[in-house]
Amino acid sequence: CLCPSPAMAREYFTHKGVLFPCLDFSPENLSYVENEFQVQDDDVFNITYPKSGTSWMREILSLIRSDGDPGWVRSVVNWDRVPWVESRPGLEATLKYPTPRLLCSHLPIQLFPKSLQRSKAKIIYTLRCPKDVLVSLYHFSKLLRYFRDPGSLDSFLEDFLSGNVVYGSWFDHVTGWMGLKGNENFFSITYEELQQDLQGSVQRICHFLGKELSEEQVAAVVENASFQSMKGNKMSNFSQLPDEYMDHQKGELLRKGICGDWRNHLSEAQSQRFDTVYQERICDCWGQDPVIP
Ligand code: A3P
Repeated sequence: CLCPSPAMAREYFTHKGVLFPCLDFSPENLSYVENEFQVQDDDVFNITYPKSGTSWMREILSLIRSDGDPGWVRSVVNWDRVPWVESRPGLEATLKYPTPRLLCSHLPIQLFPKSLQRSKAKIIYTLRCPKDVLVSLYHFSKLLRYFRDPGSLDSFLEDFLSGNVVYGSWFDHVTGWMGLKGNENFFSITYEELQQDLQGSVQRICHFLGKELSEEQVAAVVENASFQSMKGNKMSNFSQLPDEYMDHQKGELLRKGICGDWRNHLSEAQSQRFDTVYQERICDCWGQDPVIP
């Protein structure tokens, strides 16, 4: 798909049952990433379902790598510091990235590079309360020019619950990746834990990465990865994203940055509808609740 016009830019295609935008994605690229991309032992992957704290974790990992020194996060845009593996420009940046690489992906596990299985690469999987993911994604979809208009919240809720959204079902994503829990190279954390205790979360991430930082360095990571710091940093807040990708007049990536904003948006009926599907797809099949507070 060449997506020559702005109208075409809102087109989607389905790859192995998962929806992707035409702009910057193609079935050929996704097949290459799945079957030929070589994961390296010293790669660190920031993996999330969209709107679960991807940019936040990108910032935390960048700052940990630079020992809390904010020079890197203030001088290089986040998609070059921690590129997307699966998008066309992201893959180009990934292939040029000197090792050890910090990489980012929203891919569901079944589309992730197969070479992961043979590697010692580290995976950090960040989850977020899915009702907040839904609300965040609903708003963000209105800003991205290459996403379809989400329509009413009611119809978007149904699309979200059935996986008829970019990157597919939240439920499949979470159950797929969380299946790696217990693997020594897999670490999961929630957006809510980051909110509750960023310092403790940074220390846990450092421990997982085998990285030692002093107390001052951890404090610098926490300070520079705060919502306010990131919102004011043009290298982290997506304000550098070209206008053809995002309508900057309509809103920002760093919208509210809170837990439980869904309560301000979902009606009682919408919330109950969500709970019914959540119960079936997560609680009943998992026997536990990984995220919903
Ligand atoms: P809201 O839309 O609820 O505000 P992603 O990076 O995966 O696209 O997720 C974006 C969401 O993470 C947005 O949520 C954004 O505000 C929030 N976010 C980004 N950086 C954050 C930070 N430092 N602290 C808290 N929330 C942050």
